Amino acid sequence: MNTLLLKVDKDNIDAEKIRTAAEVIRRGGLVAFPTETVYGLGANALDETATKGIFIAKGRPSDNPLIVHVADKESVRMLVEGMPETAEKLMDRFWPGPLTLVMKKSRIIPNIITAGLDTVAVRMPSHPIALALIKEAGLPVAAPSANTSGRPSPTTAKHVMDDLWDKVDMILDGGPATVGVESTVLDITGDVPMILRPGGITPSQIKSVLGTVLYDPALNARNAENSVPKSPGMKYRHYSPKAQMFIIDGELAGVVAKIREMTDEYGKRGLSVGILATEQTRDMYDSGEIISLGDRDKPETLASNLFTALREFDRRHVDIILAEAVKNEEIGLAVMNRMSKAAGGNIIKV
Ligand code: TXA
Ligand code: MG
Repeated sequence: MNTLLLKVDKDNIDAEKIRTAAEVIRRGGLVAFPTETVYGLGANALDETATKGIFIAKGRPSDNPLIVHVADKESVRMLVEGMPETAEKLMDRFWPGPLTLVMKKSRIIPNIITAGLDTVAVRMPSHPIALALIKEAGLPVAAPSANTSGRPSPTTAKHVMDDLWDKVDMILDGGPATVGVESTVLDITGDVPMILRPGGITPSQIKSVLGTVLYDPALNARNAENSVPKSPGMKYRHYSPKAQMFIIDGELAGVVAKIREMTDEYGKRGLSVGILATEQTRDMYDSGEIISLGDRDKPETLASNLFTALREFDRRHVDIILAEAVKNEEIGLAVMNRMSKAAGGNIIKV
């Protein structure tokens, strides 16, 4: 398949390009587009054949359901069976934005989207290009992250091209995604809302609206290997760079000392090591391929750079990645969750 790449300026959107992309979606094609979290791979959510194309292009297991994207709150009504009061509150506060709500699905949602579940995940992104595209298509748009299944999610059009060139009809390049980790997936079908995937909206933000929120215990980086998460997608080894990755967790000076020691040991065995450091620690290493994730005092920078850093280590062909743990709270929960998946649960405590 020939892939068409179109550059779109998010601050001055070319309506003609959006019309072209929307037409591709309407006739059953696949369009990768930027959202504020990561790039998504979109298709008409009401068209079973079109959405099947998403699974094929990504090599995605069919038991992993897709998020349906809308451009306004009203469009949610036809997708769900009854709208809980919590949904209204959360949409008012966090939409458009990186919060996905899991609700009882309506009959118009094809089973392939929900992988046979009786719930559907819905989100209204805040990225102007995503909103313009969904609105122009005039349809709900199913869109997982636009990466090959198992690879780190794409935060630039280049990442999408690396994974999906010739496999999708069109890629809209709208510059880098800013949040950098995916949306928070929140199940509001039960009595107490439960976070199934930590992401761009933090637990305390949700608590500030609902008073309470549960956190699927299987998501805790340290329990990752022992329990089965409720969100189907969270059970896979995921977000993975090609190198073997370890997270080093503990008091920061001890973490740095351990990474220095391990880098030396691997070096002696002829293996190249990538170090995922932070602004606070990057100068404390004198060997290895060092990438700073960002500023520990601004944890949103860590989220924003994570997937690019993992892909950069691949590009440099390192054999081993040693990553400093970050604070496992708020947006850091999402960062630690993705890092722990990328590391296949390999966490070394110092
Ligand atoms: O930020 C995002 O959410 C991005 C952008 C493109 O919007 N999308 C994204 O989609 O990350 P994807 O497919 O990579 O991840 C969707 C997650 C998976 O973990 C999936 O299992 C979960 O949402 N999910 C989807 N429908 C669900 C449902 N009905 N119940 C529970 N989990 C669901
Ligand atoms: Mg994904």
